[in-house]
Amino acid sequence: MNNLIVKNASQIVTSKGNHLHKGKEMAELSIIENGCLIAEDGKIKAVGGPEILDGIDESKYEVIDAEGKTVLPGFCDSHTHFIFGGYREDEFTWRLNGDSYMSIMERGGGISSTTKATRATSLEEFIDLGKKRIKSFLRHGVTTVEGKSGYGLDLDTEIRQLKAYKELNELPDSINIVPTYMGPHDIPEEYKGRNSEFIDFCLDEVLPVVKKENLAKFCDIFTEKGVFNIEESRKYLEGCKKTGFPIKMHADEIAEGFGGAELAGEMKCVSADHLLQISDEGIKALRDNGVSATLLPLTAFSIKSRYAPARKIIDMGGAVSLATDFNPGSCYSESIPLIIALSAIYMEMSPEEIITAITINGASALLEGDTRGTLEPGKYADIAIFDVPNYRFLTYHFAVNECIMTISEGRVLYKREK
Ligand code: NIG
Ligand code: FE
Repeated sequence: MNNLIVKNASQIVTSKGNHLHKGKEMAELSIIENGCLIAEDGKIKAVGGPEILDGIDESKYEVIDAEGKTVLPGFCDSHTHFIFGGYREDEFTWRLNGDSYMSIMERGGGISSTTKATRATSLEEFIDLGKKRIKSFLRHGVTTVEGKSGYGLDLDTEIRQLKAYKELNELPDSINIVPTYMGPHDIPEEYKGRNSEFIDFCLDEVLPVVKKENLAKFCDIFTEKGVFNIEESRKYLEGCKKTGFPIKMHADEIAEGFGGAELAGEMKCVSADHLLQISDEGIKALRDNGVSATLLPLTAFSIKSRYAPARKIIDMGGAVSLATDFNPGSCYSESIPLIIALSAIYMEMSPEEIITAITINGASALLEGDTRGTLEPGKYADIAIFDVPNYRFLTYHFAVNECIMTISEGRVLYKREK
């Protein structure tokens, strides 16, 4: 039985519609007190007050009493790198002692060290690691998660990473996983000093296999000073688009004035991610081209950077999504409560904007807004329930995980033990 009723909720809170919300619209939420929701066959049938239960035979449903609780759409974490081998706790300690993320990378640490470990990890091991990580996403109320490749950088390992996402997505008790091919995440040892040839390798040798085996929905690149420059990025992104993939970029994370967001606008990326150093021109380029500004405050926190200018982006009419960037280096954290706290306190986003950013805007940044990201009839019943009397407690009781239940496509996949 995949039929479900959630009733008596102190609040059901959701954005509306299937689109990326920008500017003032980000603050618009629908709030239903004493809320009820009916789902059948994994999809939402009705949302409203107790009257929607009139004439319904509740014995045919799994009934969840949400008295005193707040019900939200499941969170959409639209930027992670959650399949990788090894860990980098040593680097984290070096950074605590004053080393910078880029200087560690220049010395051959950083992504290259994860690449070595990832190349040595089997598909079975990826899947075991992936299952554990998905359990943790679920504990935080996440029902959709994006996952990138980019720690293999050679054909076999990139494909193995993407196969892990695919196999995990097909497990009966999995959440919705959206895979992204991120070949140009770093320049592998064997291509040092030959960036352009490496881009050709990604486009000519790897991408056709990704496409043929249907292993990714998006393509992504790390556009950054000392990694891939604007010209190299444009060539890669054009190639990906020609092959039929929607595109994303890691843009304006570290260097100032690099022009990543401007390129994301020009190329009509679905999202540009990080944006800690975005320029006003970059903000306009994203806004005018309908690109999601996907902000990753846990990474800014972890690398002790300034935060992305969320307030300015929204005030200028742009669209902000929020995601974790979960990865072994710059951000080994999947904490949604900490994202909410940092977004409210350091990025000056309102509780309403934060909810939009991590639900419908996250879904839209994955081109999943037609079926997920809000609690509306016809969409998947992807639901997160919190032990708080209203949604403002998610910011007020900061950095504490209040999620007590996560429902994916009408199935209760996580329930907190009493
Ligand atoms: O989004 N910036 C580039 N890529 C990742 C970090 C990868 C790593 O440090 O392993 C990011 O922060
Ligand atoms: Fe990232």
